[in-house]
Amino acid sequence: MIEVTCTAPINIAVIKYWGKRDEKLILPINESTSATLDQSQLCAKTTVAASPDFTSDQMWLNGQEQSMDSARLQNVLKEIRRRARKRKSDGSGEDRVNWHVHICSENNFPTAAGLASSAAGLACLVFSLSKLFEVEGDISDVARQGSGSACRSIYGGFVEWTMGTEVDGSDSRALQIASETHWPQMRVLILVVSAKKKHVGSTTGMQTSVKTSQLLAHRAEKIVPERMVEMRRAIKDKDFQTFAEITMKDSNQLHACCLDTYPPVTYMTDTSRDIVRLVHAVNNHYGENKVAYTFDAGPNACLYLMEDMVPTMLGLVQNFFPPEQDHGEAFLTGLPSKVSTP
Ligand code: PMV
Repeated sequence: MIEVTCTAPINIAVIKYWGKRDEKLILPINESTSATLDQSQLCAKTTVAASPDFTSDQMWLNGQEQSMDSARLQNVLKEIRRRARKRKSDGSGEDRVNWHVHICSENNFPTAAGLASSAAGLACLVFSLSKLFEVEGDISDVARQGSGSACRSIYGGFVEWTMGTEVDGSDSRALQIASETHWPQMRVLILVVSAKKKHVGSTTGMQTSVKTSQLLAHRAEKIVPERMVEMRRAIKDKDFQTFAEITMKDSNQLHACCLDTYPPVTYMTDTSRDIVRLVHAVNNHYGENKVAYTFDAGPNACLYLMEDMVPTMLGLVQNFFPPEQDHGEAFLTGLPSKVSTP
């Protein structure tokens, strides 16, 4: 038996991916940008093993056996094995490509609560399988087929997911635009508003949005392309003012698109909106952007800020949302994460 264990961090988008133009290949309707966080707080850990004695592929997530019927899981396994076979036919590799695999994965944070658990989990799975089967080269397009945003967790630092133009999706990949050492003062605070599983998964939410939201179509065609260019420049120049403004506007637009979806999809709660108000109050107080919020498909907030603002923000969060008070939902504050490498 051969066995490989890997960990992969979450990534938090500052320009959001929302909507697919190809459901099977997971090709997005717009490009997106994210930062990959360090692994001290939130990460997925996966062990994959292959053996000639295993009689079927099997998977466990957080200790519970999962069905292997998922089309995405099957696509990922098929693609990694295809690449491994190609290598084997080149004269390298071994018989292991024909062995069944056992996959054991766990997240050290709530799964499916809008905290990019699928991004970390699928990136980790694809990375571990590529090591197990000795697949080389870029594997972000394989991770993409597991869960769109997972392709961005394959690289550290600041990462873009390009839309691509090929019908087979071969050029819809992740690309690092700045390394994890580029902006060392950058920190991310994760505020867990609710650890409950979200009521509408991102796949269903996106499908309904693509079908019904005119705002989403406008966003994908007219707004995101310009934002991508501005965001790339802001990251390269370490221009936090622009970085923060685009991040907040883009999160607001994602949730506006969700509200424009019919029937509407709501991920943010009153507590999420209180966090938005707090961040704007802080920025108004300083007369410049010191903190930026962003929300994925869930109520939990991710705050981007510089290292020197972390004590102030943690103090404010603890003051306004003390953990012992009932906010209707659990409220915890995470320790600051750095932008890092997988
Ligand atoms: O990759 P998915 O299907 O979990 O979609 C993630 C979508 C958002 O997290 C809301 C945005 C993003 O770009 O990560």
